[in-house]
Amino acid sequence: MKRIVLDVDTGVDDALALLLALRSPELTLEAVTTVAGNVAVETATRNTRLVLELAQAPKKLRVAKGAAQPLQRPLLTAAQVHGSDGLGNVTGVYPPPQHPLAGNEASDLLLELIAQYGKELTIVATGPMTNLARAAQREPERFRQVGEIVQMGGALQVRGNTSPVAEFNVYVDPEAAAVVLAAGVPLRLVPLDVTEQVILLRSELRRRALERDSTVFQFVREFTVLYFDFQQRMSGLNGGYLHDPTAVVAVIDPALFTWQPARVEVRTDEAERGRTVATPAADSPVQVATAVDAARVLELFCDRVCR
Ligand code: RIB
Ligand code: CA
Repeated sequence: MKRIVLDVDTGVDDALALLLALRSPELTLEAVTTVAGNVAVETATRNTRLVLELAQAPKKLRVAKGAAQPLQRPLLTAAQVHGSDGLGNVTGVYPPPQHPLAGNEASDLLLELIAQYGKELTIVATGPMTNLARAAQREPERFRQVGEIVQMGGALQVRGNTSPVAEFNVYVDPEAAAVVLAAGVPLRLVPLDVTEQVILLRSELRRRALERDSTVFQFVREFTVLYFDFQQRMSGLNGGYLHDPTAVVAVIDPALFTWQPARVEVRTDEAERGRTVATPAADSPVQVATAVDAARVLELFCDRVCR
């Protein structure tokens, strides 16, 4: 069993990652922290609470709101991908979520959990790294006591999805990514190189729904429509990339990935903002995923969420 905290910018694939984490017996989800990214942090927090409520997560599962913008830059969101509400523009029919909101700020809660669990704790981050960077800057010694960080982010040998060279989470807050990747903490980076191989097709959702359905699965099929439409327009895919759920699977079963220890440099200049350059380095605490058993990751996700 692995103790985790999820740091999310709930958007569509973050919501799928939350559902996967809740339905994975290998994981104990201690808390969720939210950060601005796909949408404003208020919206990401509302979406996170809505997903937890519909999934009937225990009310004691703490949700703490975090950074409203990157460390040094104005916020860039992704409404064209996730909808202006962050969940495919379907949340309007749902009443405001009742899942409790914790009083503390996200980086406070991250540091509190690291103090409580230390090396037992894994931070799974699927948004810009702003909350993690704030925690590292405020209490570097404490931050370094965390067991591991697993971060969805970066584009190494593939084209970026936000600029030709940059992946969204790193592009939005490259300074935060640079702080976290240099913090000396064990970190596994799950870049587009592998997450773009894990594709959930509309046809698979339809097939699975015939086998077994539920209100949560109906919600999944609702909030993924716009996300799939976007991918279809952009790349002809009749489905969508499971970026964030793939990071959660990297915690559940790391053996489904090939890992390369590397130093990862983050470009913060305007020309190459958010570019991640990995240089193999056997002594680095950072590892990057260079390959994945995509079929197995997809099957594990669908078996647990698509029902
Ligand atoms: O580039 C994909 C990542 O950016 C995913 O985490 C998606 O949710 C957005 O945050
Ligand atoms: Ca995300």
